[in-house]
Amino acid sequence: MKIYKAKDYKDMSRKAANILSAQIIMKPDCVLGLATGSSPIGIYEQLIEWYNKGDLDFSQVTSVNLDEYKGLKIDNDQSYYYFMHKHLFSKVNIDIKNTFLPNGMAEDDKKECERYDKLIQSLGGVDLQLLGMGHNGHIGFNEPDEAFEKGTHCVKLQASTIEANKRFFESIDDVPKYAYTMGIKTIMQSKKILVVVSGDDKAEIVKKAFFGPVTPAVPASILQMHNDVILVADEAALSKI
Ligand code: F6R
Repeated sequence: MKIYKAKDYKDMSRKAANILSAQIIMKPDCVLGLATGSSPIGIYEQLIEWYNKGDLDFSQVTSVNLDEYKGLKIDNDQSYYYFMHKHLFSKVNIDIKNTFLPNGMAEDDKKECERYDKLIQSLGGVDLQLLGMGHNGHIGFNEPDEAFEKGTHCVKLQASTIEANKRFFESIDDVPKYAYTMGIKTIMQSKKILVVVSGDDKAEIVKKAFFGPVTPAVPASILQMHNDVILVADEAALSKI
């Protein structure tokens, strides 16, 4: 694993955006695995800036997102579909037909998960997967558990995740209780993985995930077994290692 130390969130975003843009330049028709949440917003802003300068072209890029809340329509401003359109897709020249997320309104969970895994396979897999990490070590919505979940699945969100996400909703009761997420196997099959972490509130989990034992109790720890992982974290997030 390569670790790049950034000064702060802005520096982390710029360094990570450099890696994503290198991927797009080296393989213009690449498949990017994308994430939502506060960690990647600065990266998307930086990519948009470079796109506006004429330095980046998304016209041949395909994207697959990690996860989506179950039960939120695409026009709900808390859906990940809405997030991706607001923070990236509507601001660059990516072809919307080539952007994919799990369908939060699917009627049959099992069918939806199978559909998403097949879709990723049919695209030839993910070239570069961008990941944030939760305070409990979750990646996507793969929560701490007794075993690693493999393919795309529907999860019941943990109380700590619902608590962390309530800042985006009017009340905690509005936070969805279930979500679709790529599984650990799907994530681990990505050719390259880029993890971004910022802030001293993540310092403890960075230490556990990347320097502790590999265990499903800390889902991100499995990334230690991948042979092409880059962690870009700021000084605060790296303060305990
Ligand atoms: C988002 C996702 C989540 C977040 C994680 C960290 O698509 O899959 O695993 O990456 O919850 O969230 P932030 O970046 O808001 O701290």
